[in-house]
Amino acid sequence: MEEEKNTNIHQKEEIDEFEIKRRKLWEKRVQFEKKFHLYEGDELKKINLFEYLKTKTITLILRSVGLYNRGQLNASKISLRKVKFVFPDIPKELHGLKILFIADLHLSQYYPSWFISGMSVIQQIKTPVDLILLGGDYRFGYFGSEDFVIPMIKEMLEKIEVKYGIYGVLGNHDISSVKEKFQEAGIHILVNEGVEINHNRAKIWIGGVDAQHKIGCADVSLATVNAPGNAFKIIVSHSPEFELIEESLLWGVHLYLCGHTHGGQIGLPIIGPIHINAKCKRKFAIGKWEYQDMQGYTTTGFGVTDVPVRFCAEPEIVIIEILKIPFHI
Ligand SMILES: [Fe+2]
Repeated sequence: MEEEKNTNIHQKEEIDEFEIKRRKLWEKRVQFEKKFHLYEGDELKKINLFEYLKTKTITLILRSVGLYNRGQLNASKISLRKVKFVFPDIPKELHGLKILFIADLHLSQYYPSWFISGMSVIQQIKTPVDLILLGGDYRFGYFGSEDFVIPMIKEMLEKIEVKYGIYGVLGNHDISSVKEKFQEAGIHILVNEGVEINHNRAKIWIGGVDAQHKIGCADVSLATVNAPGNAFKIIVSHSPEFELIEESLLWGVHLYLCGHTHGGQIGLPIIGPIHINAKCKRKFAIGKWEYQDMQGYTTTGFGVTDVPVRFCAEPEIVIIEILKIPFHI
């Protein structure tokens, strides 16, 4: 009895410790936002002089060679990509689980083309999905209020029949105040925390980490620590930073979903992306990948940022299907 009491106290202490860590990381994010005055200004404002000059230079080069309009057109041609993941050792009940995954929406009041294109793609989805997961970076810029994205996202997703709801994470373009607004709209933003879903008697754990790129607030352990041992574990992270991929593997994650790279956004034929903007090998930067027992997907994303163009980096909305093969074991 005494032993049981001690264990309970120990567990409670641990839970409190995790909660303290979560709050510290959230405070770190809030301080970062205050330091750079991210709540003020227009969405087209640049984070520093270097970013401003980089954007201007790329725009100027593309305009001078006559490719700017082509790039803009490419950015508004969103595809619906279907991706299947095979897991031999998961419960049979998870076979056929469908997830709609969208990241890097980068919605803008100035550039509506990918929103219009994305709306028409989503309208083609006639079959119900089990989950909708959002990978962060909901706005085009870094500054000002982000609230305008909520009605746009609601409008985009309202026709989709979803069984277990909409969950998402924050990216490096997002600000903390939008979390509550999402919650009010019925979209649950996971910040270094997770949620358990029971699907046909099998357990699914959706862990969401905060943004790591530039902000450094992601903690996979906090997002997975409460997952039941037998759950199918999914991590949603904004970016494919290798330290997060490694940590996810250690925590027994089955599927790692992320975006952030935009597939490079600007790439060259055969060579591929000029810059992936993430601390990871190129194999983790686009599409499907594996890391030991874990599988992952890095979406090229829905929208764009900085210069509103794409080359050799097609935008996408992803429908993921989980398959248990062989089915009879
Ligand atoms: Fe992004």
